[in-house]
Amino acid sequence: MATKADEGSTEEHRSGASEEPVAPARRGKTVHGEPANAGHRVLAPDDAEVEAYLETALKASPPTRQGDEPPAEPDTVVVLDFGSQFAQLIARRVRELNVYSELLPHDTSWAELERRRPKAIILSGGPNSVYDAGAPRPDPGIWSGRIPVLGICYGAQLMARELGGDVLPADRREYGPATVTITADDGLFGGLDRDQPVWMSHGDSITRLPEGFHATAQTDSTPYAGLVDERRRLYGIQFHPEVVHTPRGRDVLRNFVVGIAGARTDWTAVNFIDTTVAEIRERVGTHAAATGSDGAVICALSGGVDSAVAAALVHRAVGDRLTCIYVDHGLMRKRESELLRVTFEQNLGMRLVMVDARARFLARLAGVEDPEQKRRIIGDEFIRVFEEEAANLGRIDFLTQGTLYPDVIESATSETKAAQKIKTHHNVGGLPADLRFQLIEPLRYLFKDEVRTVGVELGLPEAMVMRQPFPGPGLAIRIIGEVTAERLDTLREADWIVIDEIKGSGLYRKLWQSFAILTPVRSVGVMGDGRTYANVVAIRAVTSEDGMTADWAKLPYDVLGKISSRIVNEVPGVNRVVYDISSKPPATIEWE
Ligand code: XMP
Repeated sequence: MATKADEGSTEEHRSGASEEPVAPARRGKTVHGEPANAGHRVLAPDDAEVEAYLETALKASPPTRQGDEPPAEPDTVVVLDFGSQFAQLIARRVRELNVYSELLPHDTSWAELERRRPKAIILSGGPNSVYDAGAPRPDPGIWSGRIPVLGICYGAQLMARELGGDVLPADRREYGPATVTITADDGLFGGLDRDQPVWMSHGDSITRLPEGFHATAQTDSTPYAGLVDERRRLYGIQFHPEVVHTPRGRDVLRNFVVGIAGARTDWTAVNFIDTTVAEIRERVGTHAAATGSDGAVICALSGGVDSAVAAALVHRAVGDRLTCIYVDHGLMRKRESELLRVTFEQNLGMRLVMVDARARFLARLAGVEDPEQKRRIIGDEFIRVFEEEAANLGRIDFLTQGTLYPDVIESATSETKAAQKIKTHHNVGGLPADLRFQLIEPLRYLFKDEVRTVGVELGLPEAMVMRQPFPGPGLAIRIIGEVTAERLDTLREADWIVIDEIKGSGLYRKLWQSFAILTPVRSVGVMGDGRTYANVVAIRAVTSEDGMTADWAKLPYDVLGKISSRIVNEVPGVNRVVYDISSKPPATIEWE
């Protein structure tokens, strides 16, 4: 599935780092006992909030989940995760070749691998040394020659060592750009020039090849930058083909996945939509026929891309059996609720319940200044409203959620990320919910960029599909101090100008987030002949790969200048604009 071009900038950001050792950590589980990142507010930020509320609402009676099989069994490439920060990126790169790829734990058994019938297996890099006691190792069944294997970095070293070769600490560690010289064409390097710029990140080297292998590439410091046993179709490379700093890396992956392994390239948005729609239709239809129900489906729209795409897919499958509920808590950005109504009700002809709960939320937020309390109130109120509305709809059989692939995969990297929860955002306990739905999670196999591609294909508007992450509690956590209707209006206007100017300057998709914050500070100013004493608005714009760390964006002065003068001129009650130049860590992206 093709990726959006603007992904390039974030990948560059990501691939600049070398692989750091990661401490093992226990990963969070959802209420269904599955691994999940929902507890962390970063990994799928768009709809994290809504997802988390629903998870909580469902706590009383865990619903049935679908199995882990992708729809209609496309040709699959398994990436075994040995803890590399790039493991997910490898899977995404394979998918960009239109071949389905999934990330599995490094110790997945050979029996399980064979059951999944992958066309190929890729071993990711990792922070360990293969000779360390307790270093992660795969099931030796993978060396049988029955399925082609490509080992990357640590994966290549594993291949060498497990099969009888040697791996030792390198005399010269290689981090960053390097040149490999291709010495033999083993099919992996087909179409590539002899000298290739690549990205390296390793402190160990293969010093002796196992029997049956020969070298295919070298660098100044490594004689075995590439190795192969053609008979068993085992390939190893010491460099990282998945990062943008290896310009021909995509071709290497294509040569392996399509050329050597012969995977079909039919993982496309159109195919995904067709098979998913057919599958949902079948599932809901069968259930309705078997239980004599209407097969009613509900979906909570949050304004984010995930729930929007999930709803549009389900609607295509079951039409009016789907009702979407949108809780308008009044904390959205300007025109977002309206865009949602026009898109779903008018353009897609969907049944949409828009609940105007603005007054309820405001009433409960009155006088509240503590950020975590704001989050709790909003989460709690959201579920109340959602449950009331769901109850009005009569019997409901299915609930649609926009769960994404990164939320369900188990990997060493996300383990550590999931462990680092900083602010609570979904600890909304004490709910009497006894909702009994089955879940439909049509995006369960997709990465975020694929969700966007599918959204575009489904005809959703760009403003929705390409939207920057927006926190569930919305503008409430960008108003420092008490949230009032008036302060919301002020912030909404200022925020609108920020987005308008950022989009106008072509920067919107290069930034992870860009927004305004209404501070509790007032300062003296002078306007016309008069003295003013008015609000200070702060601007926050950051670049980031995943929200875990972020850098303040070096916005051009003229863009900042224009934002500032427009806000002061157009938004009543604001006379000063400041720019936040803190990175995360030590600051966070949001101010609350
Ligand atoms: P911080 O402020 O922790 O934010 O650097 C990291 C990412 O998470 C988003 N965020 C939230 N998302 N509910 C959400 O759904 C929340 O309470 C919440 N708080 C922060 C934030 O916008 C950023 O993308």
